[in-house]
Amino acid sequence: MAAWRATLQRAAQLAAAFLRDRSIEVRAHSLVVPQDLSGSARVAAGAARYARECTACHLAPGVTRAQLRRGLYPHPPNLAEQRPPDPRRAFWVIKHGIKMSAMPAWGTTLEDAAIWDLVAFLEQLPAMTAEDYQRITR
Ligand code: HEC
Repeated sequence: MAAWRATLQRAAQLAAAFLRDRSIEVRAHSLVVPQDLSGSARVAAGAARYARECTACHLAPGVTRAQLRRGLYPHPPNLAEQRPPDPRRAFWVIKHGIKMSAMPAWGTTLEDAAIWDLVAFLEQLPAMTAEDYQRITR
């Protein structure tokens, strides 16, 4: 009985995650990515904000522990250790948040330009060493 229930719960979770990803994909599709996404001004601005607002949940190169993160379920991904997200998808997720998770909707406080700065930084983040990260957020 218990095993059955666990299997059903797991299947329901997978289905929900699949539908969520699909709906983000569909809605993010029509966004227009700024031409200067890899520009250093954008990346630096995004890095500064990321250091202030995002590391408590998502960590960073050289930032490997954070109190808040430990108790969160679903667990926030370590964004420095995965492939850079698709820019449109990242923008949509940052702006609108992720339902029933700790990921906030930043669109209530940030202009679109500031969100693209964050996306610009996230594209570079996985390639950064701890030194790169320190230099850019100093
Ligand atoms: C209070 C914790 C918390 C904070 C602060 C937070 N996030 Fe998140 N974030 C999450 C969680 C939890 C998830 C995963 C949710 C899920 O998959 O169900 C997530 C997911 C994401 C994703 C999607 C990753 C993927 O692979 O799909 C991106 C991108 C992201 N966050 C960016 C940011 C940025 C940028 C900031 C700062 C402006 C930020 N987050 C601040 C908790 C947080």
